[in-house]
This record gives sequence, C-alpha cells and structure tokens, in this order.
Amino acid sequence: MLSLVALAVAALPQVLAHGGVLSYENAGTVYQGWAPYNSPVGQTTIQRPWSTYNPILSATDPTIACNDDGTSGALQLTATVAAGSDITAYWNQVWPHPYGPMLTYLAQCPGSTCTGVNANTLKWFKIDESGLISGTIGDGYWGSGKMIDQNSSWTTTVPATVPSGNYLIRFETIALHSLPAQFYPECAQIQITGGGSRAPTADELVSFPGAYSNTDPGLTTDLYSNEAKTETTYIIPGPPLYGSGTGRHNTPTTPSPHVCSPHVCSSHVYPSSNFHPKRPRCSQVRSMRRFWLHWLYDLRGRKYLPEAKRSVILNPSSKALELILLLI
Ligand SMILES: *[C@@H]1O[C@H](CO)[C@@H](O)[C@H](O)[C@H]1NC(C)=O
Repeated sequence: MLSLVALAVAALPQVLAHGGVLSYENAGTVYQGWAPYNSPVGQTTIQRPWSTYNPILSATDPTIACNDDGTSGALQLTATVAAGSDITAYWNQVWPHPYGPMLTYLAQCPGSTCTGVNANTLKWFKIDESGLISGTIGDGYWGSGKMIDQNSSWTTTVPATVPSGNYLIRFETIALHSLPAQFYPECAQIQITGGGSRAPTADELVSFPGAYSNTDPGLTTDLYSNEAKTETTYIIPGPPLYGSGTGRHNTPTTPSPHVCSPHVCSSHVYPSSNFHPKRPRCSQVRSMRRFWLHWLYDLRGRKYLPEAKRSVILNPSSKALELILLLI
C-alpha cells in the first residue's frame, strides 16, 4: 500500500502537466500542431511553437500571447482560411478543467506574412468568448465545460467582416478551479481570404501581455466563496468583442437569444456568453472518471479548496483509487 502511494505521488508531476491545443481543423483539413515535447528540429506546422503543458499562472507573464517567446518556427507554415469559415482547435483529451471561460483572438501581422513576426508586438482583438453559460459561479456550466463536452474542442467562426490578410489566431482556455487562474493559450498562423472591410476599432485592440491584469474580476473569481453559490454573473476578461466596441461601427449589443441553438452558440459572436438563459444544459452530468481526475488535478491548488474537498484528496485511503484512475 505504501509503495502504491509512493507511485501515485511520483506520477503526479506528469498528471499535473495539463496540455494545450494539439491540432486544428478548417474546411475539412486537419492541421497537426506543434509537439512541445519533441525536438523542434524538422517540425513544420501552422501552429506557433510552444514549450510546456503547464499553465501560465500570471496574466502579465511574457509568454501569455502564445505560450512561448512569441517567435515563429524554423519551418513555419500558414493555413489559408476563408473569412466566414469555422476553425476548430482540439485540446488534449479529456481536457480536465471544466470551470472557466473560452476565448479566441485574432491579430493581423504587418507585411505579407506572420512568419518572423513576434506575437508580443501585435494588437489582438477578441472574436469569440464563452464564460458562465448557466447556473452559478460555484456550480455552473462554463465555456470550458462545453469545450470538454464538444470532444475537448472549440469552434470559432472567422468573422466574414475582417479584412483579408495574415493573422495569428489565438485560442485560449482559462481554468478557475484554483487561484491564481491558469491560462492555456496557443496560436496558429492563418491567411484570411475573402474578408470584409471592418477593421477592429481602437477599443477592441489589446496587447499580450497587457490585455489582462491579475486583478481582473474574471481572473480572481473564487468558485468556493459563499457569494459564488448564488452569483450568476461572470465578467469575461479582455477587451469588448470585435463588433461590439464603441468604434464607428456600433452593432446592437443584444442578439436574440431564440436564434441560438447549442451548436450555433459556440461559433458566433455574442457580446457575452452569459447570454444563453434558455440554453439547455447539454451535459451537467460529469462522468465519475472526469470528476475524480478533476480533483486529482486540484492537488496543486489544494490550499485553495474548501475543507470537504481537501479531506477527500488528502485522505490516504483515496490514494489507491487515485493510482487506479491514473492508470485507466
Ligand atoms: C475528437 O477529437 C479528436 C482529436 O482530439 C479527433 O481526432 C476526432 O476525430 C474527434 N472526434 C469527433 C467525433 O469529432
């Protein structure tokens, strides 16, 4: 039994390596992503190189743009993507963190390619977001829970109105199960064709680092507080969505909720994902495996957890169970 415990504890560092975006899909083509634990030599992909499955733990970390130093790969590729088409990012399976928002950004590169352009020099605008979809902060259904329910993937529509050109697309999930918040952003290079003429307005544009602050309400949300048991509003971090800024192209800030089907919602531009009052809760029932895996991942942040959760995690008799869960 003791050796089982030791084995379970020894295996934890791997378990705590959480992951990121491993591949993309657009118009029927699958693009394999960068493999952060393989040698960079010879890797050729549309994804920007990244180096770790570990979360970024500060909103102002220098790697917050693309989970690396911001540079392109030696054999960097670019995908051609039609404006108005859907692009899907796939995280590693099964993504373990169901509490927190999903966000997608674009940044246009100067010149004729993004290759060689440092991501930290770009101005980003948000084209998709999903925060607390239903329920309360403490026990609600979140964008990231929906991502898990969608085969650990997230689909965003490239707005038909963005100008054609070369862009980085940045998919991000933020996990709030422990504090500080955990950021998981990765980027890919795309060339948008057939675009429109609605450039993002100044108030929609941000830098990474810069877009977030460690004191943003949406990044300091305590899921385990008393207020969280009744609070149903979550403020998604970052700038106003593309199309909703106060620039010269004002659009209505209130879309009709009745046009929103579960499949449509994730990929369209809404001012706020809190905007799905009638949305069915597709999957409120988490499998036992995911339930336990989640708590296992929480070991890292256990000092933030309430006593009840802590006692389960730290109860020695649960160690054998954890080991079994590690092996399945
Ligand atoms: C689920 O995602 C994996 C990639 O993680 C992909 O290979 C597979 O085709 C997806 N399954 C479905 C049903 O979309």
